[in-house]
Order: sequence, then structure tokens, then C-alpha cells
Amino acid sequence: MTVVLKLGGSVITEKDEPETIDDERLGAVAASVAGAETGRLVLVHGGGSFGHHHASAHGVSRTRGTHDVVAVREIHDAMKRLNDAVLDALSGRGVPAVPVHPFSAARRDGDGALDLPTRGVGTMLAEGFVPVLHGDVVAHVGEGATIVSGDELVVSLADGLGADRVGLCSTVPGVLDDAGEVIPEIGGYDEVARYLGESASTDVTGGMAAKVRALLDLEAPASVFGPGTLADFLAGGSPGTEIAREDEPT
Ligand code: IPE
Repeated sequence: MTVVLKLGGSVITEKDEPETIDDERLGAVAASVAGAETGRLVLVHGGGSFGHHHASAHGVSRTRGTHDVVAVREIHDAMKRLNDAVLDALSGRGVPAVPVHPFSAARRDGDGALDLPTRGVGTMLAEGFVPVLHGDVVAHVGEGATIVSGDELVVSLADGLGADRVGLCSTVPGVLDDAGEVIPEIGGYDEVARYLGESASTDVTGGMAAKVRALLDLEAPASVFGPGTLADFLAGGSPGTEIAREDEPT
């Protein structure tokens, strides 16, 4: 069983305070991971107040790049600091977590399509490690470097590794309808388009609409849930919203 789990940046950082970890939340998340028996687990974390702050200060997004090496390093180094904190929290609880920095391995082509080689991650898993990737800058043909979100990495990893389950742990308890209730299952985008709105994003990498679209493209079922139900997800449950494409009738 291969599981790809993303920890949203706002789960593990104080989103409004530049470069501030939410120690309590990160500790709780690390404890849940340490207590789970998931088989092969790949973790990805977002940027929170480490990534987005620097990305927007330099006007860099997933589509708008920079050739300014100072900007590239500021964003990447901030994400490495957050990655170190996540690794420390995990290894302090006995999880064999190792870092994987996407900037060193991934690229985008001129159309913006992401190419993330996953064989190295596959070998880490086979050898018993828990690879921990993060949203980052990425070399982008014709743009210099743009942002790659944790969500995009999750999609590439799930495809490349043939993941069985995907989880997105964010600060919301799931995908919400217009009454603020969690939608338990989503099988197609049209079912929920009216709740999501395409322009509701508040960060440089897109909001819930983009998440749902990307997750519907996966072979593996994906769950979107809040931090309080992480242990349930890791134990095999489907808390929050389960997103699994319903096959087109033939
Ligand atoms: C953003 O990653 C990475 C950078 C801004 C460098 P995400 O878009 O996955 O981060 P969160 O989860 O929304 O914070």
C-alpha cells in the first residue's frame, strides 16, 4: 500500500506570521504519522507562511517566473527551513523521514506541465524511508523559475508511484457546500462547480477548485480532510470529502 499525504502549509505554520511554525499542530501531525501503519508513505508539505510570503514579495507564481537568483534562493531556502522543521518533528518521534527538494529534480516545460522524476522516491520507499517533499521553486522553460505547489507534487507522485490512496490534510474539514457542510463524496467536477467558484484563490497556487480538478484526474481515490481526522485517514478511513472519479459510462 502506497499512500501520498499532503500537509497543507496552513496546518503546520501560522499563515499570517512570516516564517512561523505552528508547533502544536506540527507536533500533533507528526505524532499521528508516527502512530500509523500505512506501509509506504510519502509526505508533501505546502508553503504556508514560509513559501507564499516570499513568492508574492517577488511576484512569482505557478505561471509567472523569475530569472532573479536572489528571489529563487529566498523562496527555496525558506522552504528548506520549513522542510527541516517538519523532518525534525517527524524524526523526533521515530519516523524515518528524509528530505527531497523538488527544485533539484523537477522541471516545467514551456506549457507549464510538471515533470517530477519519481524513481528516486520509489527507492527511498522500498528502503524503508519516508520521503518528505515540499512546494518549491522549479526551473520552467522560458520563465526562469516558477512555483510548484504541494498539490501538483502530490498528483505527480501519485501517478508516478502508482499510489493506492491520496490524502490532503488542510485547515478545512473537507470540500464545503454553500451551507458550509462537508460534501462526503465527489465523483465529477460538475457536481460541485457551483460551490467552488474559479477565482476564490487567496494564495499564489490556487484554491479548492484547482485541488478538486487535479484530484479527479488521479487513478487513486483522494480524501480532503482537516487535521483532527488525520489519524483516521492514516488508519484507512475516508474522513472529510472523498474524491474519486466516476468512470464515464461507455
Ligand atoms: C506553495 O505550496 C509553495 C510555495 C509558495 C513556495 P502550496 O501551495 O502547496 O502551499 P500551501 O499548502 O497552500 O501553503
